[in-house]
Amino acid sequence: MEVIPEYFLVPKDEVTKELMKEFFEWIPHDKTEADETMVLLDEYLTTEKIVLDLGCGIGLESRYFAERGTAVVGIDISHKNIIKAKLNNPDYRKISSFMVDDITTLNLDRQFNIVLLHDVLEHVFKHEQELTLLNAIKHTAKNGVIFIKCPTEEYKEKFCRSDILPGHHVNPACFQILDEMVSLDMIKRVLNENGVKLLFLGYRGFIADVPIWFIVIGRKVIE
Ligand SMILES: C[S@@+](CC[C@H](N)C(=O)[O-])C[C@H]1O[C@@H](n2cnc3c(N)ncnc32)[C@H](O)[C@@H]1O
Repeated sequence: MEVIPEYFLVPKDEVTKELMKEFFEWIPHDKTEADETMVLLDEYLTTEKIVLDLGCGIGLESRYFAERGTAVVGIDISHKNIIKAKLNNPDYRKISSFMVDDITTLNLDRQFNIVLLHDVLEHVFKHEQELTLLNAIKHTAKNGVIFIKCPTEEYKEKFCRSDILPGHHVNPACFQILDEMVSLDMIKRVLNENGVKLLFLGYRGFIADVPIWFIVIGRKVIE
């Protein structure tokens, strides 16, 4: 019988940031997926650029850039994830740094050429999503690029209810304690209002023609 971790069963209104940190110790270690997505940023990449990986988890996307000689700063609220991110980036002291911080309030007082929100916005509190995106834009240099990946509404509607997968009941892992759907319209509006031009909108990972993730890449054209 499938054992549901306790933190999946906590009512959402009782979730705190402390609980969230514990929850995020559960993170799949799939470097292939990270590489397959980050390849979209190859055309914007050079070794002089600096990447900010917001909600870097265990540092797999960060590693993609470090392996290509690009410096990375990774930020995560989970102390344990930051330890793992450092372990996953053995040369991190030379080219990367990883820090515990809250990306909703982060203020590094510097800007970056590439800023990632890879599978992150859906995991902050709903009322912090827009704030987090604004913070990502604030940390992006002029002509810098922002990358956002989130699950689609259709995925939540169809796959999480599992009514399209015969014999498959509700999958608790889909209802993570903080897995708030992110509105693509909100993302487009906030980017547009803050001088970020849409460069790319695409979908990844299909189940029965239902896209699981959307990916948005934008360029900050004004200061
Ligand atoms: C699904 S994981 C994604 C990790 C990584 N970006 C990846 O795609 O493999 C979401 C990450 O966001 C982090 N996170 C959630 N809320 C955060 C916050 N307020 N500040 C910093 N990190 C946060 C979590 O700790 C977790 O590592």
